[in-house]
Amino acid sequence: MASISQQNQAECREKAEYANVNWDELGFALTKTDYMYIMNFTLADDKFSQGNIIPFGNIQACPSSGILNYGQGLFEGLKAYRKEDEGILLFRPEENALRMKMGADRMCMPSPTVEQFIDAVKRTAVANKRWVPPHGKGSLYIRPLLMGTGQNLGLKPASEYTFLVYASPVGNYHKGELNFLVEDKVHRATPGGTGGVKAVTNYSPVYKPLTQAKAKGFSDVLFLDALTGSNIEEGSACNIFILKGNVISTPAADGTILPGITRKSIMELASGFGYQVEERVVPIKEVFDAEEVFCTGTAMVLKSVASITYQGKRIEYKSGAETVAQKLHATLTGIQSGAKEDKLGWTMAI
Ligand code: COI
Repeated sequence: MASISQQNQAECREKAEYANVNWDELGFALTKTDYMYIMNFTLADDKFSQGNIIPFGNIQACPSSGILNYGQGLFEGLKAYRKEDEGILLFRPEENALRMKMGADRMCMPSPTVEQFIDAVKRTAVANKRWVPPHGKGSLYIRPLLMGTGQNLGLKPASEYTFLVYASPVGNYHKGELNFLVEDKVHRATPGGTGGVKAVTNYSPVYKPLTQAKAKGFSDVLFLDALTGSNIEEGSACNIFILKGNVISTPAADGTILPGITRKSIMELASGFGYQVEERVVPIKEVFDAEEVFCTGTAMVLKSVASITYQGKRIEYKSGAETVAQKLHATLTGIQSGAKEDKLGWTMAI
């Protein structure tokens, strides 16, 4: 592994303006970039050490670490966009920092401060600047991880933690239409569980229903609440909204719903456009007469749902141009990429 002085020199080294990537072919898959950020916490010091940018690469972990044995870990996702004038913008990084703090509390982990989190994200984006796609061609997806890395055979919080940030250029999360199958047997989250935080353990349990739905030709699953099985919750990696008349509704983030930052931003934009935005219980039956359905997420951004199938019945929705979803998408991505004025102060230039 490189020494700290080599690492810091590497951080400052001049780089080619753009990496050699076919920017038109980007999907949502890992493209290894040049650098990542790492910062450690030990119980003995009771604080995170000085973080460093180091070359991107594999990390070592004790076989008995908390993350490998008991899934003591959280992740975040945020994006850096290149403006038309080549400047780079982060979108609402303090929101991710605050969400990680909330999740860390639930998972009994220490968390970087908001300042440490933002500094790490900025340094990762700057060090990998040549991997930020050209304006309009995608974004640099930044993935902060917080992991229990201390050894731990017994069931208790780890004594050491690692905060690591890596990044990859990405394009669309979903290509093509979004056709949901409502999953009425497997649940993503339960009251009192961890559905409301970005615990790593929330994600792989969706693989089975998602794989089964994909095998039947659907692109995603829509989960229902675990208590009654009659209210919609979210997709495998996105929040959901329904539109009827002037009302836009989304399931309330009351512990089983991931409080998405795109979700929050869209609620604010939609209110600004004069829609009545409601966070509440959304019964599955309301999906039958919605005019539009769309989903949001950092990876997904905002995408219209073309259809939802529930107990054999398929409902189709308006999508594409002239939809409210399209208007919200254009406004959000315009702000994110610097093409539209950021009146709400959501972007951070780096
Ligand atoms: C994101 O939208 O950033 C997510 O965390 C979804 C992820 C599962 C790709």
